[in-house]
Amino acid sequence: MLNKVAELLKEVESFAAKNIEELEQFRIKMLAKKGAITALMSEFRNVSNEDKKAFGQQINNLKQTTQQKIIALKEQLDQTINSSNKKMDLTRSAEQVQLGARHPISVVRNEILDIFSRIGFMVSEGPEIEDDWHNFSALNFPPEHPARDMQDTFFIEKEVALRTHTSSVQVRVMENQTPPIRTVSPGRVFRNEAISARAHCIFHQVEGLYIDKDVSFADLKQTLMYFAKEMFGEKTEIRLRPSYFPFTEPSAEVDVSCNICSGKGCNVCKHTGFLEIMGCGMVDPNVLENCGIDSSVYTGFAFGMGIERIAMLKYQVNDLRHFFENDLRFLKQFTSAY
Ligand code: DAH
Repeated sequence: MLNKVAELLKEVESFAAKNIEELEQFRIKMLAKKGAITALMSEFRNVSNEDKKAFGQQINNLKQTTQQKIIALKEQLDQTINSSNKKMDLTRSAEQVQLGARHPISVVRNEILDIFSRIGFMVSEGPEIEDDWHNFSALNFPPEHPARDMQDTFFIEKEVALRTHTSSVQVRVMENQTPPIRTVSPGRVFRNEAISARAHCIFHQVEGLYIDKDVSFADLKQTLMYFAKEMFGEKTEIRLRPSYFPFTEPSAEVDVSCNICSGKGCNVCKHTGFLEIMGCGMVDPNVLENCGIDSSVYTGFAFGMGIERIAMLKYQVNDLRHFFENDLRFLKQFTSAY
């Protein structure tokens, strides 16, 4: 008889229920009127007097253990039901999905490319690691030009460097295509500069190039005016100041009227009413010849702008470093830009 009690105790201790139904079956099997424990209790009277005490204790213990086990299992099952019910609460409002945003530099690059694509400019790209020919020599840089110095340029080998401007791509395009050529080249450029609010050793440029018969400075001016108005608004004016670049002749620096004070004069434009946005000029005949284009037949213009600079003016950002720090408080402000 005691064996039977021990056997049942083992069964109770090792029992596990997958669900409420299984647990209820178990309860009926053990504790119901016709259950195993109830049946054992009715054997009590057949036990000899000397064994009655021990048997009584054992069977009480078995009954209590069974009851406690059932309560514990029920609690466990209730908890899992509750938590799985929570997942199924169909009345709960949906969790908000956090939308990502394009980086402001990508936003502005896309906008620049889009503006030029509307007047027939194709996009072309070139390598970030560039040889001396494409970055300097073909662009008419004299051998002693300071940009060829280690202090300004990151060299990898003697004649190989990280490109210092995307003008290198115009050389590659002219070498490989015949005019008419109309292209814009976006990309990353590298300069050995100290990082500050206005300069960084890595930044982005878009280069523009137009080569055909009879391309004139007036075409350049008109193209830049169209760009400035599309980018900064219909009221924007441009101003060209004579300048020098080895690869263009004549060359100019392009200013746009300050979009903060509308040209009246403020801190941002240092009370001049204008802000510098890019360099430009007529492609030097030497450059055309270096790239296999007959300079007695074709002329062309080129321009180059920093994307960070355009983005700073457009969104009134006063420190270039914001674009590289990936601070979400900054980046999230561009969620609605395209
Ligand atoms: N490559 C020049 C720079 O990085 C920008 C530039 C100026 C590009 C004049 C041009 C140009 O195509 O005509 O500063």
